[in-house]
This record gives sequence, structure tokens and C-alpha cells, in this order.
Amino acid sequence: MSRQVWFITTPIYYPSDNLTIGHAYTTVAADAFARYHRLRGEEVWFSTGTDEHGQKMERAARDQGLLPAALADRVVSGIRELWATLHISYDDFVRTTEVRHERVVQAVFEQLKSQGDIYRGEYTGFYCEPDEALWLESRLVDGKCPDCGRPVIRLTEDSYFFRMSRYQDRLLQYFRDHPDFVEPQSRLHEMIKFVEQGLEDLSVSRQGLSWGIPVPGDPEHSIYVWFDALLNYLTTAGYGSDASRFARTWPSNVHLVGKEIVRFHAVIWPTLLMALGLPLPDRVFGHGWLLLEDTKISKSRGNLIDPNMLVARYGVDAVRYFLLREVPFGADGSYSEKALVRRINVDLANDLGNLLHRTVAMVTQFNGGVVPPYRAGLETPSLRRAAELAVVEVEEAMDRLELHRAIMGVQSLVRAANRYIEDRQPWALHRDPAARELLDDVLYNLVEVLRVTAILLSPFLVETPTRIRRALGLAEAGTAWAEVAWGGTVPGCVVKSGDPLFRRIDTHEDDDRAEHPMAPEPEARAARPSVISVEEFRRLDLRVARVRECVRVDNADRLLKLTLEIGEETRTVVSGIAAHYAPADLVGRSVVLVANLKPATIRGIRSEGMILAASDDEGRLSVVGPWSGINSGSRVT
Ligand code: MSP
Repeated sequence: MSRQVWFITTPIYYPSDNLTIGHAYTTVAADAFARYHRLRGEEVWFSTGTDEHGQKMERAARDQGLLPAALADRVVSGIRELWATLHISYDDFVRTTEVRHERVVQAVFEQLKSQGDIYRGEYTGFYCEPDEALWLESRLVDGKCPDCGRPVIRLTEDSYFFRMSRYQDRLLQYFRDHPDFVEPQSRLHEMIKFVEQGLEDLSVSRQGLSWGIPVPGDPEHSIYVWFDALLNYLTTAGYGSDASRFARTWPSNVHLVGKEIVRFHAVIWPTLLMALGLPLPDRVFGHGWLLLEDTKISKSRGNLIDPNMLVARYGVDAVRYFLLREVPFGADGSYSEKALVRRINVDLANDLGNLLHRTVAMVTQFNGGVVPPYRAGLETPSLRRAAELAVVEVEEAMDRLELHRAIMGVQSLVRAANRYIEDRQPWALHRDPAARELLDDVLYNLVEVLRVTAILLSPFLVETPTRIRRALGLAEAGTAWAEVAWGGTVPGCVVKSGDPLFRRIDTHEDDDRAEHPMAPEPEARAARPSVISVEEFRRLDLRVARVRECVRVDNADRLLKLTLEIGEETRTVVSGIAAHYAPADLVGRSVVLVANLKPATIRGIRSEGMILAASDDEGRLSVVGPWSGINSGSRVT
């Protein structure tokens, strides 16, 4: 089977209630991948939808005095509106109540029954309604659902079973042969452990539950909602309805799911596919939860955050940016409005917005608004190199499904460009007639870096890239990933100043410093520290150190681990500056180290000292170092 389409899916959501920022999280992430691959010229199939059957849905409808279908219709229209508000570019929205899907489910059920993979028996076990999960007594923890800890209902009824046990060894072998099948790796290990405990046959029908797809030929029974739901991925790929599309689309590249439903996707789903003789998806990626005060944001917990309200208040790109950047993709992380506002103020308004604003203002002031000519060979390599590095960083991060890291790659480029303005001081070049060509070069480079940034941001943000291009006077349409190559801006474009890209949101809490663990508290910043004596100052052993190596610290998106040379000595220091510098920015640079600071263990790494950095009220941070070449190990006095 030759697959030509890049196929990505979200879970299909229960339309028992309006969706939350948690559901938006998965969907926006999937959208970013879909946009990225489209931008690269690949054909993409991006599907989402709703999981409308099952006991939970039936109960939610009953509680509201509605028929399940009526409740589903109402919630689904809200979901579609939400996805439009968030600019979700799905290609298919599948509802499990659609005839095209019911046909697939019944056909699969019949096929598995006719080949002996489904048989009839009696089920005795337990049911977790919120998870729609079936459990044998041996798997319960303290008599509760082992996944979510909520109470379960005892069931004894006639049932059809899927012979899942038959596939246990093949599945374990598959895990071993395809170590990337389930990611992050920790979730793969959980799955291996789960399967090694023994796979039982799975009950795939419920007796007397009217809200479900009937078992073919036995309408007393309806098909288990997870059996029904998982098959949505085949329905949307064209299974049984469009053979040529199915051949081009299946298997999926990645099923994005929350960590609580990895088991369904990494155990039940592959065994069903094995039974059907179909290839398995490339990857099941289980991301972490968005938490609110340490608790999962969820409908059943009632701590909903309405994404519509956030978009209305802060704009679609701010919300998308926050969702994709704030939490390392894969780990749990917290949602707070404060953190959202900080991202808007620091990353978007200050770093990106100011870069655009300053560039447009300088092109206007120093060159009558016209982008100056590009003189190949003259350009300052540092910025070009930063742009090329950022492209590679985004590409590598997207391949590894590390969305937050991809955005960090763009952030470092934006910061490099802001530093470039400080270094080159275009206003000084403007005063010097002999520096005309150099000034042209600087202005061109800034426009160019913003053009590249707009492309790099296009998978993540939906309005900002066009606004950047418009402000630079570039053509708005037809952007492709290949255009990230340096030198694409055509000189002669006329820049246009307009509204700021993002408005800073006034907050009384200046907590931007939290980015940087060694930064002073706001109070310390406001009041100057008391006077100290020279002797007290001399107690500090400050040394010039050279950065030999620098890497990010796993699962800690603010931290870098630096290997420093101090004369003959080598030391490791962990520093909270990863939001401001990419590792490559630092290697080979000289910094100032507080060498006699008491060592500390940070994320299991022994950190021997602290490097100095300055930070300002606008969230900028700059590492401090000597102005000219000097041996490492030199004392700073
Ligand atoms: N219907 C099943 C999925 C079937 S897929 C074949 C289901 N639906 S759900 O409505 O409960 O949605 C669960 C999914 O929503 C999670 O797997 C996750 O993708 C997303 N999230 C909902 N709340 C979330 C958070 N608070 N944080 C992160 N993601 C969360 O399960």
C-alpha cells in the first residue's frame, strides 16, 4: 500500500457538553502540524469529529430532558463554531452517527465475527461511565477505575467479545520493533507493562443500551462505544467507501491524543487493525494535560475554561500561541490567565511586535519607507545564520512533534534580530554618510528576517503572518515553506506602519521575571540593594568562563545546561535562560561566572555556580560577558 497523504487525527470528542480549552489544546496542536505539512507542499488529511454514542451521552441527554441526537446536534454546532473561531483547518469532521460511519462499524464487526475474531459469551466485570471503559475486577484499584479513580458499575450481561488476547504477542513484538509507535517513550513503557500483564478478550457490545450502533443481526445489543469510536479513523480515510483515497491515506501518520486515552489507541486499536489485516499508524502521541491548579480541566470536573471567551478577549493568535508554546508538548502544564498575558506581553508584544514596529519605523525614517537593495555578499552573516538555524530547529522539532520547541526556535530568531538592532545601531549608521551601504544592508536584513519569521510562524499563528507581510509591503498570498531561504525579499517593497501586532496588556503583577530563576524579584529590582563594602564585594569569586558545550535540559523548557571552561577547570552550570538563547547562541562565547556560589542540584544536575545576565522591565535578558578577548579563568574585579 503506498501512502501519499500526510494523515493526522484528533480524538473525536464527546458532544455531551461544550468543549474546553483542554480539547482546544489537542485540536490546535493537530492544526499546527497539518498547516506545517501543507506549507511544505505535502497533501494532508486532517480529521476530527465527535463520538456521539454511549452511556455517558445517553445520560447527559436524559439529564437535560433531550434525546441524545438532539443534544449532539446542539453541541456539535457549537464545536464547529469553536473550530472556526480557532481557524482549525480540518479536512473532515466525522460524526459517529453518520451513515457512512455506521456502515464501516457494522462491516468491521461482521468481518471480525465471520473470521472468528468476535464471538458471543457472557461478560462479568465493571464499567467506568466517564471513561466508557470496561474493567475486569483484577484490574481495579481499591474497587475504583484504575485510570481515573472514579467509581465503577458492576455489569453481568450477554456480550460479544473481540479475541484481543490472540494478538498479545504480536503487539508486544510490534512495540519492540517500532519503538516510536507510542510517544513519549514513557507512555510506550506503560503500555508494554500493561500488555505484559496479559491481554484479555474485550467485550465489544452492550446489552439493552439503545443509544449505539446495533450489532448486525442482533439489535438487542449495541456496539461498544470505543470499538465504534476508534473506527472513525478508517471512516474518514475512506475505508469501504473510497478505495483509492484509502490506499493513498492509510495508515495515519499520527493520532494525537491526550494521555488518558493512549491505552485505547495503543492497545485496542492496533489489535483491531491487526485482526483486519491493515497496517498500523506510524505514531500514537499522548500529550499531557492542561491543568488548572493541578487538576485536569475537564467537563466532568466542572472547571471549564471557555476558549471562545479567551479568543474574544485576547485574539485567536494569542490563544493559539499560548497553547502551543507554554507547555512542553507531551508533559502536563498549567493554564492560567496570568501566564497567557505574560506570553502576550513578553513574546508577542515585546519581542515580535517591537521587532516589526522598529523595523518598519526605521525603513520609513531612514529610507523613505522603501526596502533597500539586497547586495549579495554584503549581508552580515550573523543574522542570516540565525535564520538558517531557526529553520532547521523548527523542522527538527516538528519532526519530533515538539511544538513548543519549534516555537522556541522562532523566538530565538526574533530575539537575535532585536539584539542585531542593538549591535548595529542603525540610527548611528544613518548619521554617517559613509555608512549608507551598511545601513541599507542592516535594513534589508531586518525586513528579511521578519519575512522568514512570518513563514516560520505560519503553522502556529493564523493572522499574524499575513499582518507581518502586509506591514513589510510583501505579497500576502502563496507562501510556501521553501521560501524560508534567505534573500527572498524583493527590494523596493514599501512598508506600511499600522496597528501594533499585539497590544501589551496592563497588569499590575510584574511576574515576567519568572522566566529566569536567577533574576531578582520585582521588589529587589525596584529598591536598590543596600551599600556593601569592597571586602564584601571581594567575597565574590567572579570569573570569565568560556562556554564549551550547551544543551537544553529535558522536560524543563527554561533551562540550559552549560559546560564551562574556567582556565584549566571544567564545570557544569544550569541556567534558566533557555527562553532567551538557543544552545548554539552560547557555544564559544565568554560569560561571567559566580564561581564560589554554593552548588545546587537542579533537575538532577549538579550546578556549580551561576552565570550573570541582565534583564529589563520589558522581559529582555542579556548574558553578560567581557568586551574583548581575554583568557577564561580571568578574575572579574
Ligand atoms: N471520545 C473519546 C475519544 C475517542 S477517540 C477515538 C474522548 N473524548 S473527550 O471528549 O473526553 O476528549 C478527550 C480528549 O480531549 C483528550 O484525549 C485530549 O485530547 C483532550 N482534552 C480534554 N481535556 C484536556 C485537558 N485538560 N488537557 C489536555 N487535553 C485534554 O475521550
